[in-house]
Amino acid sequence: MENKVLSGEVQVDDKYEENIRPSLFKDYIGQSDVKENIKVFVEAAKMRDESLDHVLLYGPPGLGKTTLAIIIANELGSNIKTASGPSIEKAGDLAAILSSLEPGDVLFIDEIHRMPSYIEEILYPAMEDFTLDIIVGSEGNTRNIKINLPPFTLVGATTRAGDLTSPLRDRFGIISKLQYYTDEELFSIIKRTAKVLGVEIEDDAAMELASRSRGTPRIANRLVKRVRDFSLVKGNGVIDLEITKLALEKLKVDKMGLDETDYQLLKTIALKFNGGPVGIESLASIIGEEVSTLEDVCEPFLLQRGLLKRTPRGRMLTDSGYEHLNLNKQGTIFDLEG
Ligand SMILES: Nc1ncnc2c1ncn2[C@@H]1O[C@H](COP(=O)(O)OP(=O)(O)OP(=O)(O)O)[C@@H](O)[C@H]1O
Ligand SMILES: [Mg+2]
Repeated sequence: MENKVLSGEVQVDDKYEENIRPSLFKDYIGQSDVKENIKVFVEAAKMRDESLDHVLLYGPPGLGKTTLAIIIANELGSNIKTASGPSIEKAGDLAAILSSLEPGDVLFIDEIHRMPSYIEEILYPAMEDFTLDIIVGSEGNTRNIKINLPPFTLVGATTRAGDLTSPLRDRFGIISKLQYYTDEELFSIIKRTAKVLGVEIEDDAAMELASRSRGTPRIANRLVKRVRDFSLVKGNGVIDLEITKLALEKLKVDKMGLDETDYQLLKTIALKFNGGPVGIESLASIIGEEVSTLEDVCEPFLLQRGLLKRTPRGRMLTDSGYEHLNLNKQGTIFDLEG
């Protein structure tokens, strides 16, 4: 994406925000349904002295899946081991990870939908019976061995629950979808982040940032940091509404939190395809973005805000979409004066 500030995806800068990331349920703001349920399951597992059932977390980038996985491990009082779907290439990689687990450990697999299927099959008995079935030996002289694993909890995260195979999905006892955050929740997250960073932020400035963060904590936190830079260089170090508006204008973040890629997407549908329907592949090639970026990063928010519609024949711009672009359906710009 051109305007990286507004991408929900992880960027280099985000790697330094480990101190901003909440580590316990009490600091995890919003997602109340998901949080309350998982709290109960964690509590019950502890009371029974059993491992927590496997958990699948899904939702758009930056909504707090990794954070929640870490919190689950912390609240269980367990260690967490982390792997990511595409990085597990060989059966032996997964076998090594699984056999290193201690009783009650949390194994977090990020981007679990990108795990190769031959690896996935190793997970089935591991999840179901805590056993590892592996083939050892070389050609002509192989045998199956079964290794018992300690009880553990697999926490899987994905931006695409639809890409998960059903045998894998069915083996999760707890499946939770994370939602976009409300402005009030983002306000609280922004206030907390500012406190952690040791910068003062006025309430109206925090609210302005909240409403322009696409319902996404990662974006909210990133905007706080950028506005903090502006306040340091162009203001008096305090984040107030004036410096916030100036910074957001410079960063090209619109009132709803849309960025240049969002505009390109919406405008292309309006002006080149007469409002649609148009296939995502055509859009991606015209805009010069990956289909997956459009599908996972841009679209979910545009759909949620009702600017875009998905139909069997392709994407269509909605009336609100036209309105947001200030265009009418003939593709001409509204005359704001008359
Ligand atoms: N509920 C929350 N309360 C406070 N801060 C949060 C919350 N959820 C997420 N954050 C903040 O947002 C950042 C991004 O969250 P996280 O890395 O957990 O997202 P993710 O869903 O794993 O994203 P991805 O799909 O890219 O892996 C975290 O570093 C954390 O600081
Ligand atoms: Mg993550």
